[in-house]
Amino acid sequence: MALLDILEFPDPRLRTKAKDVKEVNNSIRKLVDNMLETMYEAPGIGLAATQVNVHQRVVVIDVSEEKDQPLVLINPTYQIIGGEQEYDEGCLSVPGYYETVIRAEKIQLNAIDRDGNAFEMQCDELLAICVQHEIDHLNGVLFVDHISKLKRERIKAKLVKAHKAELKKHR
Ligand code: NI
Repeated sequence: MALLDILEFPDPRLRTKAKDVKEVNNSIRKLVDNMLETMYEAPGIGLAATQVNVHQRVVVIDVSEEKDQPLVLINPTYQIIGGEQEYDEGCLSVPGYYETVIRAEKIQLNAIDRDGNAFEMQCDELLAICVQHEIDHLNGVLFVDHISKLKRERIKAKLVKAHKAELKKHR
């Protein structure tokens, strides 16, 4: 397995709309395993392939305390069942920033697992938030798109400045 580099906002590649996976083959399984390793190492509770510059509809999630319940979502879709919840979201592609986002409380998720089997499940609480956040990534959307433009531009300016300082250090 290997750790993958995570793209950071405002990298334009994060705006790519991912394509459906045609077949769950060994190369997709290898991507899944590397994404899981990268997510646990970060550490994070979810990672979309878009964030590692692979533009296929693959997501990994683990919202468990013990970090022992990986969930693999290939070509995931969801329908809103109802309710609203707000949560201070963060993102491995927007390191160091947390902002309140309002999302659906309960959703019906459909996806394909690592073995290529279709499944469906109802999600609520943190899992529902995470699924919505990660599927956003596959569509080129970041959590900062759900907050005010002023806040988004402020975060963008700070991250651009931080990247420049980082580049200078490595020169
Ligand atoms: Ni994210």
